[in-house]
Amino acid sequence: MRVTLAVVVLAAGEGKRMKSELPKVLHVAAGRPLLAHVLSAIEPLSADETVVVTSRRQDEVVDALELHGFGEGIRWAVQDPPQGTADAVRVALEKLRGGDGRVLVTAGDTPVLTTESLQALLEAHESADADVCVLTASVVDPTGYGRIVRDTEGRVRKIVEQPDATEEERLVHEINAGVYVFDATSLSDVLGRVDASNVQGEYYLTDAVEILVAEGGRVAAHRIDEVEVAGVNSRAQLAEAAAILRARKAEALMAEGVTIVDPSTTYVDSTVSAGRDAVIHPFTFLEGATKVAAGAEVGPHARVVSSEIEEGATVSFAVVVESSIGPHASVGPFASLRPGTRMERGAHVGSFVEMKKSVIGEDSKASHLAYIGDAEIGRGVNVGAGTITCNWDGVDKHKTVIDDDAYIGSDTMLVAPTHIGRRAATGAGSVVKGEVPDDALAVGVPARILAGKGDKMGRKDDEGPSQTQQ
Ligand code: UD1
Ligand code: CA
Repeated sequence: MRVTLAVVVLAAGEGKRMKSELPKVLHVAAGRPLLAHVLSAIEPLSADETVVVTSRRQDEVVDALELHGFGEGIRWAVQDPPQGTADAVRVALEKLRGGDGRVLVTAGDTPVLTTESLQALLEAHESADADVCVLTASVVDPTGYGRIVRDTEGRVRKIVEQPDATEEERLVHEINAGVYVFDATSLSDVLGRVDASNVQGEYYLTDAVEILVAEGGRVAAHRIDEVEVAGVNSRAQLAEAAAILRARKAEALMAEGVTIVDPSTTYVDSTVSAGRDAVIHPFTFLEGATKVAAGAEVGPHARVVSSEIEEGATVSFAVVVESSIGPHASVGPFASLRPGTRMERGAHVGSFVEMKKSVIGEDSKASHLAYIGDAEIGRGVNVGAGTITCNWDGVDKHKTVIDDDAYIGSDTMLVAPTHIGRRAATGAGSVVKGEVPDDALAVGVPARILAGKGDKMGRKDDEGPSQTQQ
């Protein structure tokens, strides 16, 4: 018969050492919360049930996790107040349906741990037929971790927390990763016997090991590589864990055929994907749900957030946020694409061009110095240097529509709402409003003065100072 597997994730600790308003497990490393990394490592284990224990700030945790695509199939338990890891497990067990089988206990603050290591721990537990199998590692600096105390035959006797450890115990470099596989019955038996008589006055889950040993239970350990056990208790450890996760991501992408010219100056979130022969140049940040297609080239010096860079597109010295760059389109140098920008195939946006909530059609170009906001630009359009969509009248935003093959002369002010017809053109320095029919040429210099028509900023106190601002 198949032995059931329940997973318990402990995430209720206050995270005091982070000195933060944010629950510790929601601190972000390589693009997603620590807890999301843990849940993503657990997912492939296909556990029968998963319980995550949080503090009373559960809603915040659940919302943040949902935002990152986690939550389905998870049962949430609240531990209030947090009284230690054994107490947290007790709270979790109240939520578990299955009684026998195995319980994998893991922590929400060990984001580097892989599925493979969890799998190996489960196997070690099974082959030792143990009451508990503890995940351990020998680390260079064991400061802050629970130490694994073994007897002369090498059998695990107990785990001692740093504040409770003797001088001699502190010299031990084998540490407890905070991850265990328990036999479910042994776990619920032993939990009731864990007390809080220690320096921190907490119910330590680690005490379960010593109690089981004393009662003649079978205690095993499975040792893995130091890198994976990194726990995050402080901001410095958060940065260390993030660096490991990014390096791992870069390695995985390179293994899939992506060129990363200099991994040490390239920051790729765990959530990013990239296709074969994509090239990532130095000083590039790929963040969030960014997808870089095959053969695309990003950087040097680019920040791409939750955007899609399609096949053969190039982005250099640019910031691209929640936008999509069509095949063979090019961005930069020195362009800023704000949320809602879509560039169609072969379009080009060049130096000092800002776009937001706009589409620029196939083979259309805005090569220099332009602001394009709330605009729909067709194919084959040339947007001259210095062109501005005056999309904001001080109160409302308006649209600019430019049809295929139009020519927008340098320094045109497109005062929205406005519509430039097919093959229409505007003269250099013109101020264009309303409708310009197909094939027409709009010219308008110099400006006329209309008395009493100003005072735009007075209408609304909380708006920004310029007509072109968001
Ligand atoms: C814990 C282990 C330590 C191990 C280390 C590995 C104990 C007593 N110590 O220490 O042996 O080396 O992890 O990283 O277990 N939590 C709760 N409720 C609580 C307290 C903690 O859910 O009441 C959660 C935390 O959110 C965290 C995890 O349990 O995700 C571990 O707690 P933490 O306080 O970080 O324990 P460490 O001191 O790191
Ligand atoms: Ca910890």
